[in-house]
Amino acid sequence: MKSSDLPRTYRVKSFGCQMNVYDGERMAELLASRGIARAADGEEADLVVLNTCHIREKAAEKVYSDIGRITKAGRKAGRQPLIAVAGCVAQAEGEEIMARAPAVSMVVGPQAYHRLPELLDRATKGQRATEIDLPALDKFAALPERRRVGPAAFLTVQEGCDKFCTYCVVPYTRGAEISRPYHHLVNEARRLIEAGAREITLLGQNVSAWAGEDEQGRAVGLADLIRRLAREDGLERIRYTTSHPADMDDNLIAAHGEVAKLMPFLHLPVQAGSNRVLKAMNRSHTAESYLRLLERFRAARPDLALSGDFIVGFPGETEAEFAQTLALVDEVGYAQAFSFKYSPRPGTPAATMPEQVSREVADDRLARLQAALNRDQMAFNKASVGRVCEVLVDRKGKLPGQWLGKSPWLQSVWFEGEAQIGDIARVALVEAGANSLAGRLQASVAA
Ligand code: SAH
Ligand code: SF4
Ligand code: F3S
Repeated sequence: MKSSDLPRTYRVKSFGCQMNVYDGERMAELLASRGIARAADGEEADLVVLNTCHIREKAAEKVYSDIGRITKAGRKAGRQPLIAVAGCVAQAEGEEIMARAPAVSMVVGPQAYHRLPELLDRATKGQRATEIDLPALDKFAALPERRRVGPAAFLTVQEGCDKFCTYCVVPYTRGAEISRPYHHLVNEARRLIEAGAREITLLGQNVSAWAGEDEQGRAVGLADLIRRLAREDGLERIRYTTSHPADMDDNLIAAHGEVAKLMPFLHLPVQAGSNRVLKAMNRSHTAESYLRLLERFRAARPDLALSGDFIVGFPGETEAEFAQTLALVDEVGYAQAFSFKYSPRPGTPAATMPEQVSREVADDRLARLQAALNRDQMAFNKASVGRVCEVLVDRKGKLPGQWLGKSPWLQSVWFEGEAQIGDIARVALVEAGANSLAGRLQASVAA
């Protein structure tokens, strides 16, 4: 396109965590509110937003190779799209991206993307610009209202992180912990419900650290926010993610036993099973305190499904220490989990620790850990066969009459029959696979 043209179409590509997915949706809404349409599948967009993640290695290289691919497609099509780099790589390496990639005209950090329209105006005049301030809550106030969302929607309630785990870039890319105000969240949740949401997942890098003041000016925490949202008609399910073991309080544990709409699922990263490694990671919990915490959650909600995050090959991790991670996995029996090979991140304390573990050793540990986690996931799914549960239908299946959705325990379930997206179907779970279950429709509650 010529430098003076306003883009007609956009594409937003999000990588990384669910908070980036939320941000990507909000950027898309912002662009749509300016009259720019989402590019059709397979169509080259006039504006491409790369909403990047910096959590592990090769993030920046991936961005450069994406930029290369986009410019190549542009040359072929005879017109170059405008490229914006957003998200955590933009925050961490914005200046460098501007210097290295002339095809990029906008760099916008995760707390500044409400400024995208201004940057776009400048870009159409041929001016390149970077916006990576961390003004925290400004963006939410400046964004347009939610219009149409799927039945399972995300709502960012808390941003940033003050925990400074020694391997992690999030405190640098997302800034300090900050909570969005209670009444803003109640309002946004209502909008989401009006826009079609039946399930809301409350998001934050440390969502259980959310704190605010209710309508009466009382200090409230995440559990109070959940109880408040549970009173909204039309909202059937509430989830939250991600939590740090340090911020889980009695009220939140109790809510799992008391609030029917709060789903029986808890994602609680532990990272490792060795207390020496946990200390070196600056995790502020031990394997034992983590297990005790899980016991309390399970006492409140016996059918709770558990999920976690793991890092293998942290600097100095020995075989015996890794075996403690496997032992912890055996003890917990996770329904699902995410596991990663430690990736040294520039600027983090762990990146310069001595005794970096070799790639071969880390690969081997990751394979062994994933085998154990897959085994437990399969066991959990198998144990679910025979259960009758509610499935929130969020997609069509591959074949006509097939539907896909999520069980209360966040398993993917497919079934056949009369249904539509947004239905909550009563389904008997009849067959378990590693990543999904087959169900038989009993009854469907219309959207
Ligand atoms: N705030 C969340 C998750 C943040 S990032 C929490 O603390 O639980 C998601 C996961 O990525 C982390 O839980 C961790 O397992 C993984 N991760 C973060 N930094 C990493 C690194 N440098 N190398 C490998 N995995 C990492
Ligand atoms: Fe990263 Fe730790 Fe904060 Fe999670 S708690 S975002 S792993 S620093
Ligand atoms: Fe990635 Fe940033 Fe999320 S680094 S995991 S997109 S907070």
